[in-house]
Amino acid sequence: MAMFMYVYRIFISLLLILVHCEVTVEQATHGPLRKICTYTRRDKTIAEIPPLAREDEDAITELLRCNSTVLSPRCLITGSNSKVICNCTVENHKRCRVVEIDFSDRRIEGGIPQNIGNLKYLTTLNLDRNKLNGPIPESFKDLKLLTHISLCDNSLNGTIPLSLGEMKSLQKISLCKNFFNETIPPNLKSLESLEYLDLSYNLLSGNIPELGGIGTLTELNLADNQLSGELPDSLTSFVKLEELQLQNNEFVGALPSSFHSLVNLKTFDVRGNNLNGTIPDIFGGWEKLLIM
Ligand SMILES: *[C@@H]1O[C@H](CO)[C@@H](O)[C@H](O)[C@H]1NC(C)=O
Ligand SMILES: *[C@@H]1O[C@H](CO)[C@@H](O)[C@H](O)[C@H]1NC(C)=O
Ligand SMILES: *[C@@H]1O[C@H](CO)[C@@H](O)[C@H](O)[C@H]1NC(C)=O
Ligand SMILES: *[C@@H]1O[C@H](CO)[C@@H](O)[C@H](O)[C@H]1NC(C)=O
Ligand SMILES: *[C@@H]1O[C@H](CO)[C@@H](O)[C@H](O)[C@H]1NC(C)=O
Repeated sequence: MAMFMYVYRIFISLLLILVHCEVTVEQATHGPLRKICTYTRRDKTIAEIPPLAREDEDAITELLRCNSTVLSPRCLITGSNSKVICNCTVENHKRCRVVEIDFSDRRIEGGIPQNIGNLKYLTTLNLDRNKLNGPIPESFKDLKLLTHISLCDNSLNGTIPLSLGEMKSLQKISLCKNFFNETIPPNLKSLESLEYLDLSYNLLSGNIPELGGIGTLTELNLADNQLSGELPDSLTSFVKLEELQLQNNEFVGALPSSFHSLVNLKTFDVRGNNLNGTIPDIFGGWEKLLIM
Protein backbone atom coordinates (compact mmCIF):
# COMPACT_ATOMS: atom_id res chain seq x y z
CA MET A 1 0.00 0.00 0.00
CA ALA A 2 2.80 2.38 0.97
CA MET A 3 4.48 1.52 -2.31
CA PHE A 4 1.28 2.26 -4.16
CA MET A 5 0.91 5.66 -2.43
CA TYR A 6 4.51 6.45 -3.28
CA VAL A 7 4.03 5.70 -6.97
CA TYR A 8 0.71 7.53 -6.88
CA ARG A 9 2.34 10.66 -5.46
CA ILE A 10 5.08 10.61 -8.07
CA PHE A 11 2.46 10.17 -10.73
CA ILE A 12 0.42 13.12 -9.46
CA SER A 13 3.53 15.30 -9.18
CA LEU A 14 4.49 14.48 -12.75
CA LEU A 15 0.99 15.25 -13.89
CA LEU A 16 1.08 18.60 -12.12
CA ILE A 17 4.44 19.42 -13.67
CA LEU A 18 3.03 18.53 -17.09
CA VAL A 19 -0.07 20.67 -16.55
CA HIS A 20 2.16 23.47 -15.36
CA CYS A 21 4.33 23.19 -18.48
CA GLU A 22 1.23 23.13 -20.63
CA VAL A 23 0.06 26.39 -19.08
CA THR A 24 3.35 28.24 -19.06
CA VAL A 25 5.18 26.89 -22.12
CA GLU A 26 2.33 26.55 -24.59
CA GLN A 27 0.34 29.42 -25.86
CA ALA A 28 -3.35 29.36 -25.23
CA THR A 29 -5.36 28.61 -28.37
CA HIS A 30 -9.03 29.15 -29.11
CA GLY A 31 -9.86 26.32 -31.44
CA PRO A 32 -9.20 22.62 -31.83
CA LEU A 33 -5.48 23.04 -32.52
CA ARG A 34 -3.93 22.83 -29.09
CA LYS A 35 -0.45 23.73 -30.17
CA ILE A 36 0.48 25.82 -33.19
CA CYS A 37 3.87 27.50 -32.74
CA THR A 38 6.75 25.05 -32.70
CA TYR A 39 9.05 27.91 -31.78
CA THR A 40 8.13 31.28 -30.31
CA ARG A 41 10.52 34.20 -30.47
CA ARG A 42 9.82 36.45 -27.52
CA ASP A 43 11.35 38.49 -24.76
CA LYS A 44 12.12 35.86 -22.11
CA THR A 45 12.09 38.46 -19.35
CA ILE A 46 8.32 38.72 -19.75
CA ALA A 47 6.94 35.75 -17.81
CA GLU A 48 3.71 35.16 -19.72
CA ILE A 49 3.76 34.06 -23.33
CA PRO A 50 1.38 36.42 -25.13
CA PRO A 51 -1.47 34.70 -26.99
CA LEU A 52 -1.22 33.89 -30.69
CA ALA A 53 -3.31 36.23 -32.84
CA ARG A 54 -6.76 34.74 -33.37
CA GLU A 55 -6.73 35.45 -37.11
CA ASP A 56 -3.44 33.58 -37.53
CA GLU A 57 -4.86 30.63 -35.65
CA ASP A 58 -7.99 30.66 -37.84
CA ALA A 59 -5.93 30.64 -41.04
CA ILE A 60 -3.82 27.68 -39.92
CA THR A 61 -6.85 25.81 -38.61
CA GLU A 62 -8.56 26.14 -41.95
CA LEU A 63 -5.45 25.33 -43.98
CA LEU A 64 -5.02 22.06 -42.07
CA ARG A 65 -8.76 21.39 -42.25
CA CYS A 66 -9.04 21.14 -38.48
CA ASN A 67 -11.91 23.49 -37.78
CA SER A 68 -14.31 20.83 -36.61
CA THR A 69 -13.98 20.02 -32.94
CA VAL A 70 -13.08 16.41 -33.69
CA LEU A 71 -9.35 16.10 -33.24
CA SER A 72 -7.64 14.16 -35.96
CA PRO A 73 -3.95 13.19 -36.18
CA ARG A 74 -3.53 15.56 -39.11
CA CYS A 75 -4.18 18.40 -36.66
CA LEU A 76 -1.14 17.64 -34.57
CA ILE A 77 1.69 20.11 -35.16
CA THR A 78 4.95 18.87 -33.74
CA GLY A 79 8.47 20.07 -34.30
CA SER A 80 9.32 16.86 -36.13
CA ASN A 81 6.63 17.05 -38.82
CA SER A 82 6.31 20.80 -39.27
CA LYS A 83 7.66 24.19 -38.42
CA VAL A 84 5.60 27.17 -37.31
CA ILE A 85 7.69 30.05 -36.04
CA CYS A 86 5.89 32.77 -34.14
CA ASN A 87 7.23 36.17 -33.18
CA CYS A 88 5.81 38.20 -30.29
CA THR A 89 8.02 41.23 -30.88
CA VAL A 90 6.16 42.39 -33.96
CA GLU A 91 3.12 43.34 -31.86
CA ASN A 92 5.05 44.37 -28.77
CA HIS A 93 4.21 41.25 -26.77
CA LYS A 94 0.48 41.95 -26.82
CA ARG A 95 0.00 39.06 -29.25
CA CYS A 96 2.32 36.78 -31.16
CA ARG A 97 2.20 36.44 -34.94
CA VAL A 98 3.14 33.59 -37.25
CA VAL A 99 6.23 34.50 -39.29
CA GLU A 100 7.27 31.16 -40.84
CA ILE A 101 5.35 28.04 -41.88
CA ASP A 102 6.74 24.76 -43.12
CA PHE A 103 3.89 22.33 -43.71
CA SER A 104 5.63 20.33 -46.44
CA ASP A 105 4.80 16.60 -46.74
CA ARG A 106 1.67 16.80 -44.57
CA ARG A 107 -0.71 15.41 -47.21
CA ILE A 108 -2.93 18.47 -46.89
CA GLU A 109 -5.87 18.17 -49.29
CA GLY A 110 -8.16 20.73 -50.89
CA GLY A 111 -7.71 24.38 -51.67
CA ILE A 112 -5.53 27.02 -50.04
CA PRO A 113 -8.09 28.98 -47.94
CA GLN A 114 -8.81 32.66 -48.60
CA ASN A 115 -7.97 33.53 -45.00
CA ILE A 116 -4.30 32.67 -45.60
CA GLY A 117 -4.16 36.44 -46.18
CA ASN A 118 -4.63 36.87 -42.39
CA LEU A 119 -0.99 35.91 -41.88
CA LYS A 120 0.23 39.46 -42.34
CA TYR A 121 3.66 38.87 -40.82
CA LEU A 122 4.43 35.71 -42.74
CA THR A 123 7.85 35.74 -44.38
CA THR A 124 8.22 32.07 -45.38
CA LEU A 125 5.54 29.67 -46.62
CA ASN A 126 6.45 26.12 -47.58
CA LEU A 127 3.60 23.82 -48.63
CA ASP A 128 5.65 21.54 -50.90
CA ARG A 129 4.53 17.97 -51.56
CA ASN A 130 0.95 18.07 -50.36
CA LYS A 131 -2.31 17.39 -52.21
CA LEU A 132 -3.46 20.97 -52.54
CA ASN A 133 -5.62 21.86 -55.53
CA GLY A 134 -7.43 24.84 -56.99
CA PRO A 135 -5.93 28.29 -57.51
CA ILE A 136 -3.59 30.51 -55.53
CA PRO A 137 -6.15 32.63 -53.66
CA GLU A 138 -6.58 36.33 -54.33
CA SER A 139 -5.73 37.10 -50.69
CA PHE A 140 -2.07 36.19 -51.28
CA LYS A 141 -1.51 39.83 -52.12
CA ASP A 142 -1.98 40.64 -48.42
CA LEU A 143 1.17 38.69 -47.49
CA LYS A 144 3.29 41.77 -47.99
CA LEU A 145 6.32 40.57 -46.02
CA LEU A 146 6.61 37.23 -47.79
CA THR A 147 10.17 36.54 -48.97
CA HIS A 148 9.99 32.79 -49.69
CA ILE A 149 7.08 30.92 -51.19
CA SER A 150 7.24 27.27 -52.11
CA LEU A 151 4.20 25.35 -53.38
CA CYS A 152 5.92 22.64 -55.45
CA ASP A 153 4.49 19.22 -56.10
CA ASN A 154 0.79 19.79 -55.53
CA SER A 155 -2.19 19.90 -57.92
CA LEU A 156 -2.68 23.65 -57.94
CA ASN A 157 -4.09 25.14 -61.13
CA GLY A 158 -5.35 28.33 -62.71
CA THR A 159 -3.02 31.18 -63.58
CA ILE A 160 0.00 32.45 -61.70
CA PRO A 161 -1.63 35.55 -60.19
CA LEU A 162 -0.51 39.00 -61.25
CA SER A 163 -0.49 39.93 -57.57
CA LEU A 164 2.76 37.94 -57.10
CA GLY A 165 4.47 40.71 -59.06
CA GLU A 166 3.31 43.21 -56.44
CA MET A 167 4.83 41.36 -53.49
CA LYS A 168 8.05 43.30 -53.49
CA SER A 169 9.77 41.35 -50.72
CA LEU A 170 9.79 38.09 -52.67
CA GLN A 171 13.23 36.55 -53.02
CA LYS A 172 12.29 32.98 -53.79
CA ILE A 173 9.31 31.71 -55.79
CA SER A 174 8.94 27.99 -56.27
CA LEU A 175 5.76 26.80 -57.96
CA CYS A 176 7.11 23.69 -59.71
CA LYS A 177 5.13 20.50 -60.43
CA ASN A 178 1.61 21.84 -60.52
CA PHE A 179 -0.95 22.55 -63.27
CA PHE A 180 -0.58 26.31 -63.60
CA ASN A 181 -1.43 27.39 -67.14
CA GLU A 182 -1.62 30.53 -69.30
CA THR A 183 1.37 32.92 -69.41
CA ILE A 184 4.09 33.92 -66.95
CA PRO A 185 2.85 37.21 -65.43
CA PRO A 186 4.75 40.07 -67.10
CA ASN A 187 4.92 42.09 -63.90
CA LEU A 188 7.31 39.65 -62.22
CA LYS A 189 9.89 42.10 -63.54
CA SER A 190 9.11 44.46 -60.68
CA LEU A 191 10.39 41.95 -58.13
CA GLU A 192 13.75 43.54 -57.59
CA SER A 193 14.93 41.19 -54.84
CA LEU A 194 14.12 37.99 -56.70
CA GLU A 195 16.93 35.43 -56.44
CA TYR A 196 15.20 32.19 -57.34
CA LEU A 197 12.35 31.46 -59.72
CA ASP A 198 11.24 27.88 -60.34
CA LEU A 199 8.12 27.44 -62.48
CA SER A 200 9.14 24.09 -63.95
CA TYR A 201 6.73 21.22 -64.68
CA ASN A 202 3.59 23.25 -65.24
CA LEU A 203 1.43 24.01 -68.30
CA LEU A 204 2.67 27.54 -68.91
CA SER A 205 2.58 28.87 -72.46
CA GLY A 206 3.51 32.01 -74.38
CA ASN A 207 6.83 33.82 -74.46
CA ILE A 208 9.28 34.47 -71.65
CA PRO A 209 8.42 37.98 -70.43
CA GLU A 210 11.03 40.30 -69.04
CA LEU A 211 11.67 39.13 -65.51
CA GLY A 212 12.59 40.80 -62.26
CA GLY A 213 15.61 40.35 -60.10
CA ILE A 214 18.07 41.77 -62.59
CA GLY A 215 21.34 41.65 -60.73
CA THR A 216 19.98 39.35 -58.00
CA LEU A 217 18.56 36.35 -59.87
CA THR A 218 20.78 33.29 -59.52
CA GLU A 219 18.41 30.49 -60.58
CA LEU A 220 15.80 30.43 -63.30
CA ASN A 221 14.00 27.18 -64.02
CA LEU A 222 11.24 27.20 -66.62
CA ALA A 223 11.78 23.61 -67.78
CA ASP A 224 8.97 21.28 -68.84
CA ASN A 225 6.30 23.78 -69.82
CA GLN A 226 4.84 24.76 -73.20
CA LEU A 227 6.68 28.06 -73.49
CA SER A 228 7.41 29.27 -77.01
CA GLY A 229 9.00 32.04 -79.03
CA GLU A 230 12.64 33.01 -79.20
CA LEU A 231 14.87 33.21 -76.15
CA PRO A 232 14.95 36.89 -75.24
CA ASP A 233 18.18 38.84 -75.12
CA SER A 234 16.97 40.24 -71.81
CA LEU A 235 17.92 36.99 -70.08
CA THR A 236 21.51 38.16 -70.32
CA SER A 237 20.86 40.99 -67.91
CA PHE A 238 20.84 38.45 -65.06
CA VAL A 239 24.51 38.87 -64.40
CA LYS A 240 24.52 36.59 -61.35
CA LEU A 241 22.66 33.73 -63.03
CA GLU A 242 24.15 30.35 -62.09
CA GLU A 243 21.38 28.07 -63.24
CA LEU A 244 19.31 28.43 -66.40
CA GLN A 245 16.96 25.58 -67.23
CA LEU A 246 14.73 25.94 -70.25
CA GLN A 247 14.57 22.34 -71.45
CA ASN A 248 11.46 20.65 -72.81
CA ASN A 249 9.58 23.67 -74.07
CA GLU A 250 8.78 24.91 -77.57
CA PHE A 251 11.40 27.62 -77.99
CA VAL A 252 12.56 28.40 -81.53
CA GLY A 253 15.30 30.35 -83.21
CA ALA A 254 18.93 30.69 -82.30
CA LEU A 255 20.66 31.14 -78.96
CA PRO A 256 21.29 34.86 -78.50
CA SER A 257 25.00 35.49 -78.86
CA SER A 258 24.76 37.88 -75.92
CA PHE A 259 24.48 34.81 -73.65
CA HIS A 260 28.26 34.92 -73.35
CA SER A 261 27.88 37.62 -70.72
CA LEU A 262 26.37 35.06 -68.32
CA VAL A 263 29.80 34.32 -66.90
CA ASN A 264 28.56 32.71 -63.68
CA LEU A 265 26.52 29.95 -65.30
CA LYS A 266 27.04 26.49 -63.84
CA THR A 267 23.97 24.80 -65.28
CA PHE A 268 22.58 25.54 -68.71
CA ASP A 269 20.00 23.28 -70.29
CA VAL A 270 17.99 23.98 -73.43
CA ARG A 271 17.40 20.41 -74.59
CA GLY A 272 14.06 19.40 -76.04
CA ASN A 273 13.27 22.65 -77.83
CA ASN A 274 13.26 23.63 -81.50
CA LEU A 275 16.34 25.81 -81.36
CA ASN A 276 18.41 26.03 -84.51
CA GLY A 277 21.36 27.82 -86.05
CA THR A 278 24.96 27.50 -85.05
CA ILE A 279 26.11 27.33 -81.48
CA PRO A 280 27.53 30.79 -80.87
CA ASP A 281 31.06 31.18 -79.64
CA ILE A 282 29.95 31.55 -76.07
CA PHE A 283 31.18 28.51 -74.28
CA GLY A 284 34.76 29.68 -73.94
CA GLY A 285 33.58 32.35 -71.55
CA TRP A 286 31.68 29.93 -69.33
CA GLU A 287 34.45 28.72 -67.11
CA LYS A 288 32.15 27.53 -64.36
CA LEU A 289 29.81 25.55 -66.59
CA LEU A 290 29.31 21.98 -65.39
CA ILE A 291 26.18 20.71 -67.10
CA MET A 292 24.73 21.42 -70.47
C1 LIG B 1 -14.80 25.53 -41.16
O1 LIG B 1 -14.46 25.41 -42.52
C2 LIG B 1 -15.56 25.42 -43.41
C3 LIG B 1 -15.03 25.12 -44.79
O2 LIG B 1 -13.86 25.81 -45.07
C4 LIG B 1 -16.24 26.78 -43.31
O3 LIG B 1 -17.36 26.81 -44.17
C5 LIG B 1 -16.69 27.03 -41.88
O4 LIG B 1 -17.22 28.32 -41.75
C6 LIG B 1 -15.52 26.86 -40.93
N1 LIG B 1 -15.98 26.92 -39.55
C7 LIG B 1 -15.41 27.69 -38.64
C8 LIG B 1 -15.98 27.58 -37.27
O5 LIG B 1 -14.45 28.43 -38.88
C1 LIG C 1 10.77 39.23 -34.78
O1 LIG C 1 10.29 40.56 -34.87
C2 LIG C 1 11.26 41.54 -34.64
C3 LIG C 1 10.56 42.88 -34.68
O2 LIG C 1 9.91 43.08 -35.90
C4 LIG C 1 12.38 41.44 -35.66
O3 LIG C 1 13.38 42.37 -35.37
C5 LIG C 1 12.95 40.04 -35.64
O4 LIG C 1 13.90 39.92 -36.67
C6 LIG C 1 11.84 39.04 -35.83
N1 LIG C 1 12.39 37.71 -35.83
C7 LIG C 1 11.97 36.80 -36.69
C8 LIG C 1 12.68 35.54 -36.70
O5 LIG C 1 11.03 36.99 -37.44
C1 LIG D 1 -8.73 23.51 -61.42
O1 LIG D 1 -8.99 22.18 -61.04
C2 LIG D 1 -10.31 21.94 -60.59
C3 LIG D 1 -10.38 20.51 -60.13
O2 LIG D 1 -9.38 20.24 -59.22
C4 LIG D 1 -11.28 22.24 -61.71
O3 LIG D 1 -12.60 22.05 -61.25
C5 LIG D 1 -11.09 23.65 -62.20
O4 LIG D 1 -11.90 23.89 -63.33
C6 LIG D 1 -9.64 23.89 -62.58
N1 LIG D 1 -9.50 25.30 -62.91
C7 LIG D 1 -8.64 25.75 -63.84
C8 LIG D 1 -8.65 27.22 -64.07
O5 LIG D 1 -7.92 25.00 -64.47
C1 LIG E 1 -6.12 26.97 -68.70
O1 LIG E 1 -7.00 26.06 -68.04
C2 LIG E 1 -8.37 26.42 -68.11
C3 LIG E 1 -9.15 25.44 -67.29
O2 LIG E 1 -8.80 24.12 -67.55
C4 LIG E 1 -8.82 26.44 -69.56
O3 LIG E 1 -10.17 26.84 -69.62
C5 LIG E 1 -7.94 27.39 -70.34
O4 LIG E 1 -8.28 27.33 -71.69
C6 LIG E 1 -6.49 27.01 -70.15
N1 LIG E 1 -5.66 27.98 -70.86
C7 LIG E 1 -4.75 27.64 -71.76
C8 LIG E 1 -3.99 28.76 -72.39
O5 LIG E 1 -4.53 26.48 -72.07
C1 LIG F 1 15.61 29.04 -87.26
O1 LIG F 1 14.23 29.09 -86.88
C2 LIG F 1 13.66 30.36 -87.08
C3 LIG F 1 12.26 30.34 -86.49
O2 LIG F 1 11.66 29.11 -86.63
C4 LIG F 1 13.64 30.68 -88.58
O3 LIG F 1 13.05 31.96 -88.80
C5 LIG F 1 15.08 30.68 -89.08
O4 LIG F 1 15.10 30.84 -90.47
C6 LIG F 1 15.76 29.37 -88.72
N1 LIG F 1 17.20 29.52 -89.04
C7 LIG F 1 17.93 28.53 -89.53
C8 LIG F 1 19.37 28.84 -89.74
O5 LIG F 1 17.46 27.44 -89.77
